[in-house]
Amino acid sequence: MIMTQHCFGACYSSKCLYCVQIVHLLLLATLLGSSVIQVECLNFGYPNFTKQNEVDFITTENAYISFNAIQVTSLAGDLISNLSGRIWYRHPFKLWSRRKNITASFNSTFVLSLIPQTHPWGEGLAFILTKEIGYIPENSQGQWLGVVNSSTNGSTQSNVVAIEFDTRKSFSEDIDDNHVGVDVNSIYSIEQASLYGHGVILPSGQDITARVQYDGELKTLAIFVFMSNATGNNNSSPIISMPLDLSKYLSEYVYLGFSASTGQYTEVNCIKAWNFTSTDIDDPVHLLWMYLAIVIPIALIIGFFFFLCWRRKTNEKQIQEDPMVVLQIKDSATAPQKFRLKELKCATGNFDPKNMLGKGGCGIVYKGLLSNKEVAVKRFSKDSSQGKPDFIAEITTIGNLHHKNLVKLFGWCYESNELLLVYEFMPNGSLDKHIFSSNFQDKGGSSSTLSWERRHTIICGVARVLDYLHNGCEKRVLHRDIKASNIMLDSDFNARLGDFGLARTIRVGGETHHSTKVIAGTPGYMAPESFHVGRATVETDVYAFGVLLLEIACGRKPGNHRIIDWVWELYKMEKITKAMDVRLKGDFEEEQAVYVLKLGLACCHPNPYQRPSMRIALQVLTGEVAPPPIPSEKPAFMWPANTPSSNEHLGNTLTGGQLTPITTLSGR
Ligand SMILES: *[C@@H]1O[C@H](CO)[C@@H](O)[C@H](O)[C@H]1NC(C)=O
Ligand SMILES: *[C@@H]1O[C@H](CO)[C@@H](O)[C@H](O)[C@H]1NC(C)=O
Ligand SMILES: *[C@@H]1O[C@H](CO)[C@@H](O)[C@H](O)[C@H]1NC(C)=O
Repeated sequence: MIMTQHCFGACYSSKCLYCVQIVHLLLLATLLGSSVIQVECLNFGYPNFTKQNEVDFITTENAYISFNAIQVTSLAGDLISNLSGRIWYRHPFKLWSRRKNITASFNSTFVLSLIPQTHPWGEGLAFILTKEIGYIPENSQGQWLGVVNSSTNGSTQSNVVAIEFDTRKSFSEDIDDNHVGVDVNSIYSIEQASLYGHGVILPSGQDITARVQYDGELKTLAIFVFMSNATGNNNSSPIISMPLDLSKYLSEYVYLGFSASTGQYTEVNCIKAWNFTSTDIDDPVHLLWMYLAIVIPIALIIGFFFFLCWRRKTNEKQIQEDPMVVLQIKDSATAPQKFRLKELKCATGNFDPKNMLGKGGCGIVYKGLLSNKEVAVKRFSKDSSQGKPDFIAEITTIGNLHHKNLVKLFGWCYESNELLLVYEFMPNGSLDKHIFSSNFQDKGGSSSTLSWERRHTIICGVARVLDYLHNGCEKRVLHRDIKASNIMLDSDFNARLGDFGLARTIRVGGETHHSTKVIAGTPGYMAPESFHVGRATVETDVYAFGVLLLEIACGRKPGNHRIIDWVWELYKMEKITKAMDVRLKGDFEEEQAVYVLKLGLACCHPNPYQRPSMRIALQVLTGEVAPPPIPSEKPAFMWPANTPSSNEHLGNTLTGGQLTPITTLSGR
């Protein structure tokens, strides 16, 4: 489902693209058709093996390409005892045809090098033909050469024929520790021959060339083995030559490869070169059918494409129902990706309540799966009047911001009156779930509270991102709705600020972009002056941050400013650490905790001019400066507030003039 939507995503920008697509598809069909013809007769050659060749092979554990060779059972230096491994050429080989009753002929020539690592050496390597790919029997190390194991030995279900190059006499049936053998579904060789009489020592570490030659007409197998550097014609007569009907033991299509093993005794088992040639046992009529079987579905797919593109064009008209929305979003410099409603419906199981992650003021958040990536999809409620402005605010603000403590916005969708935003998925949910619930289930399943260390990291993360929003980016951004449920936690429990529905951009020192004067935010987090000024300021964000600090440290909900009064009271009695969350069981660094609590109180100062800037707050948290001094009695809220000049102490030393005089922000 997702797949088709992706390819058709590429086809809609211009009419001409359709034609290009179709031509591509026809070409592809022809290519596929002709590759079918080639697939039947398999030929390949590797004078050596490089990392680039890795894609041509399928390997099991322990087998890989390294030092220009296939290492079937790892390299020396690794722990190489008691290993087995297999490697195959990725494409199947048509060995025989039941219908036509013919068998292919083939030559498999390879250079092997077996380098002993122990004395005596062991165990050996085999050229294999198997029905399956990517599978090796368990416990096939040691004497089993990766061919079978004690339970599959002798079973016709093994579907394996192996030409073994055995370097250990591990069974009484083995003639010696340097022989070739032919094994059918078993480790027992139906034919074997010692190499000592032929001037070949397998585990000499030198290059040895072997050729497995099969004649499909005569149904005979011949095996040649000689030292690669040998001169003369010692390679003219086979070491083993025997009748063998492979079609009796193997499936019509087989995979070709190598297996090897080590035991208590070890050696490096490697293949340095491999050449394979085979005869063609094709049936042209059969191929024609294959060809049609490919072309017809492709024609159908093309038709389907036309249909989808036509549908999309009709949809397109619907999307543009409110050009203002699209325009405002496009206006923002790096607008995130636009998604299709269908894609998002598909990703969330049609907004299945089972996939619901949470419910917010302006909509519901669902978990979804887009191209195998977990995402969170926020669906704005249709009846909320705030929906559209919040939606636009969110895309145009966070879509343009990049900070590791921000939730990433991947994209958006506005279709059929549905407003949707797609975010990075946060596996640990929102902070409030962790700090306000006494029995939150940790990933490991054990009931646990967030440790102080994690809480401190979260606090620092929030401070960092707020400092970035207030002072670090080109246009100052006010979040306006900082609270525990808007702080998300990623897989490492790092804080990620989310929900920019209420956020507003302000050009530093300049005019504002948006100028709604609605008082927004969440009760308990709103600074007392908000109701008088009637708009958000940098200081109101700092206030909400202060409340958040106290919540995180105390593990309590803010209530209507009661948490501030309570902590301030404890501070006055010089018992501020009593405010710490009891669930921490005293497991926190006292000095750090006191800093955080004092900073929380300083940020919640009733007089906005007395609150530190986010820059200062961050410096307090990183230990660069001490927390601002706070009066032992919570000052009463006064409006209009005293301006900084009436308090030399704070205005000069602490904030360094960073407090924003309200007048520079001319409304929102
Ligand atoms: C493996 O199976 C063969 C029969 O195919 C049998 O002759 C041989 O003894 C078995 N070997 C072991 C070690 O079980
Ligand atoms: C390998 O297996 C053999 C037999 O099971 C065992 O005796 C030996 O200790 C193993 N060697 C290593 C290094 O694991
Ligand atoms: C295999 O090699 C032999 C000897 O070089 C040759 O006669 C035969 O045609 C080859 N067969 C294939 C299928 O390549």
